[in-house]
Amino acid sequence: MIIAQITDFHISLPGQRMDEMFRTSSFLEQAVAHLLSLEPSPDLVLATGDLVDKGVPEEYARLKDILNPIDAPLYFIPGNHDDRDEMRRAFSDLDYWSRDDEFLHYVIDEWPVRLIGLDTLIPGKISGELCEERLRWLSDRLAEDPEKPTLIFMHHPPIKSGMSAMDRHGFDAGGAEMGAIVERYRNIERIVCGHLHRPITARWHGTVLSVAPSTAHQMGLNMLEGGRQQVIMEPPACQLHIWGEETGLISHTSYTSEYEVPLTVKLS
Ligand SMILES: [Fe+2]
Repeated sequence: MIIAQITDFHISLPGQRMDEMFRTSSFLEQAVAHLLSLEPSPDLVLATGDLVDKGVPEEYARLKDILNPIDAPLYFIPGNHDDRDEMRRAFSDLDYWSRDDEFLHYVIDEWPVRLIGLDTLIPGKISGELCEERLRWLSDRLAEDPEKPTLIFMHHPPIKSGMSAMDRHGFDAGGAEMGAIVERYRNIERIVCGHLHRPITARWHGTVLSVAPSTAHQMGLNMLEGGRQQVIMEPPACQLHIWGEETGLISHTSYTSEYEVPLTVKLS
């Protein structure tokens, strides 16, 4: 089972800064072409937030056009640049969100790995959180199946990354409480996140937490306290989380834009 993770597309409209300066739409087109070129193909695609930049309907319409060639099931969760209502409207054909629930969180249980998508959005803020209601929801969902391998996907990683400028807009509340819930389970194979626009891995409350790079622009690695955050054009990438009964979950970073391939070396 191959789980592709793409994140932080920041799709914008023609002429706007994200589109002109960071070419976010053209980079997502390349990421889609990359996913389609993979052999074997991913079974499903997780899109871990900041799907668009301003959360307006026209951006979601453009996003849908770009993602259209993907046949595999797509599972979306919101990031801080998204708008819950506009996401619901844009993806009204998707049936995994409950209409009665304020939050865009859900469980997908039809694969060998159980998928739990969390909604960490605080409208109007860059940082994220899990409030009491969302923590209770997570606790209840995990309690439903303490055996099956499980992957949690969410936009904001509940960690301090060491990138101080990003950490100031990290996780406002509920991180420690989520950790206490996660710690009770041995079947959580991975927590995969976005938001930080860099590949990052951490041991976290008895599981492995990872952050995928953006399909477009990346955040420069600045570890200085009080340092400023630079946006840089390191190569965009997706992550491929490959599940096997015997191997468990193995994660690869796979670069999505064009790069030079000077020669092929045969390894014997
Ligand atoms: Fe982002």
